[in-house]
Amino acid sequence: MPKLTVDGRQVEVPAGTRLIEACKAAGVVVPHFCYHPGLSVAGNCRMCMVEIEMGGRSRVAASCVEPAVDGMTVRTASPEVQDTRQGVMEFLLLNHPIDCPYCDCAGECKLQDYYMDWGAVDTGSRRETEPVHKPKRQEIGPHVMLDSERCVLCTRCVRFTQEVTGTHELGVEERGSHSTLHLAEGKRLDNAYSGNVVDLCPVGALTDRTFRFQRRVWFLQKADSICPGCSRGCNTEIHFDLKRDYKNESSGRRAIRLKPRFNEQVNQWWLCDEGRYGFEAIDQGRLERPLVLRQGVVSATDVEDALSEAARLLDDMARRHPEQLAVLFSPDMSSEALLAARSLFLDQLKFPRADFALSQAPAALDDGFLHTDDPHPNRKGCEQLKLKRGAFADGGLLDEIRQGHVKGLVCFRWDLPALLGAEARELLGKLKLLIVLGTHQQDWHGLANLQVPVAMYAEQSGTFVNVQGKAQRFHAAFPPLGEAMGEVELLVELGQRMGRKAAQTTMEALRRRLESELPNMAGLETPRAPEHRVSKEAAPR
Ligand code: SF4
Ligand code: FES
Repeated sequence: MPKLTVDGRQVEVPAGTRLIEACKAAGVVVPHFCYHPGLSVAGNCRMCMVEIEMGGRSRVAASCVEPAVDGMTVRTASPEVQDTRQGVMEFLLLNHPIDCPYCDCAGECKLQDYYMDWGAVDTGSRRETEPVHKPKRQEIGPHVMLDSERCVLCTRCVRFTQEVTGTHELGVEERGSHSTLHLAEGKRLDNAYSGNVVDLCPVGALTDRTFRFQRRVWFLQKADSICPGCSRGCNTEIHFDLKRDYKNESSGRRAIRLKPRFNEQVNQWWLCDEGRYGFEAIDQGRLERPLVLRQGVVSATDVEDALSEAARLLDDMARRHPEQLAVLFSPDMSSEALLAARSLFLDQLKFPRADFALSQAPAALDDGFLHTDDPHPNRKGCEQLKLKRGAFADGGLLDEIRQGHVKGLVCFRWDLPALLGAEARELLGKLKLLIVLGTHQQDWHGLANLQVPVAMYAEQSGTFVNVQGKAQRFHAAFPPLGEAMGEVELLVELGQRMGRKAAQTTMEALRRRLESELPNMAGLETPRAPEHRVSKEAAPR
């Protein structure tokens, strides 16, 4: 393993490590535009120049290209290096438009940051010619806008479409200062992972059409989350800003954008477009108030009344016909919620049928990269908690209702007609008791004696176990809409109203129980991208 010295700090790195990564390991972040650890090395921006001394000779070289070699002495901020970087910045800024006041990237733009760190000079502009103008505001795909004038030609986006998606939509044409990023003839940037180029672009050349002009980035708050779109469980950040009155904005959304969060074993730096842009459902079409069906009329009620009514209905049926009760769990529930539900319905109320279901998803959903063919984030969690599919697999529930074996059903989160087919609607109407705990309004809900709103994943904390068996924690970004509640809280309250003493009444207690039952739950940590872990301030000036 080569040992080298970076700005006076000793570091030892695995053989073959790029010098820029060795510097990072020593706690020094070298500024860079074109280098990205998830892509091949292009070495075209020259921003990552460092001074290397070896064998009594020193030279300035690109640290993203050079391998770390035993015995190297590296200086990342020597006068020669500073001079080089200032030159690079001056060239880049020659033709760069001063769009910062309205550029979506302002506040997270590398060009802005590096100008303050390395480029700010008091000589004023030495430009004597009109800047080269290039096309602005081009809709190059359903999600991405291109402003060619802002592009620093790092080719990260081009390499992404070549090396990660293999879709080859982007390229660079012309030479010198006229070089321009462009779409390949007849193509649009319309692949299932197109939004990643926005994250990759170090400046505001590629921006997110959904995010354009929504917020200045410095007002955004962030919560670590897990995408619930499929069983991969890509690590994400939910960006939001509750200080603005989102209800009176055209978007009406609290979640402003979703970004991938680096996790080497799961999604690395990437996120599919379906997951990235699937945040509309967090705020739209939600079931916000409990609704109760009394004498054929559905009316709104409050949570207190809804829980008391649920307890009364369940008690009544459990006393008279316990053998006719069933509960249907969802693999969209967190492991904590599944454990709380299992403990109430199976261990305490002894429901004879307490299973989970899986929707029939087309195998084509598996794209061979991140997206799997399982649209549920926590199927593994259901399996690990030893919940079964038994009674509900392959239309079994409808048969049970038809034959009169099931007359009372508690349903978590499912759209039952979508799960069981059109016939479900008629058969559900025959139930004596139907309690729905759901996130969204659905047209068949009017059949339910009681509809109780539950929180979305962005509104509660929990754990999903992904397709690889990796348990991953997500955190609430904001409180539940209306009177919705997290399932754990709701089930504890319901149990108490039914006179049952829950063994675990808090999230912490449920987690301790999960940890004792499931070895993969212990010590959950989500790694952050090394790029984020090392602060820029650590770099010597
Ligand atoms: Fe780089 Fe952005 Fe230009 Fe693509 S658009 S080459 S990512 S600066
Ligand atoms: Fe090394 Fe661009 S980051 S040349």
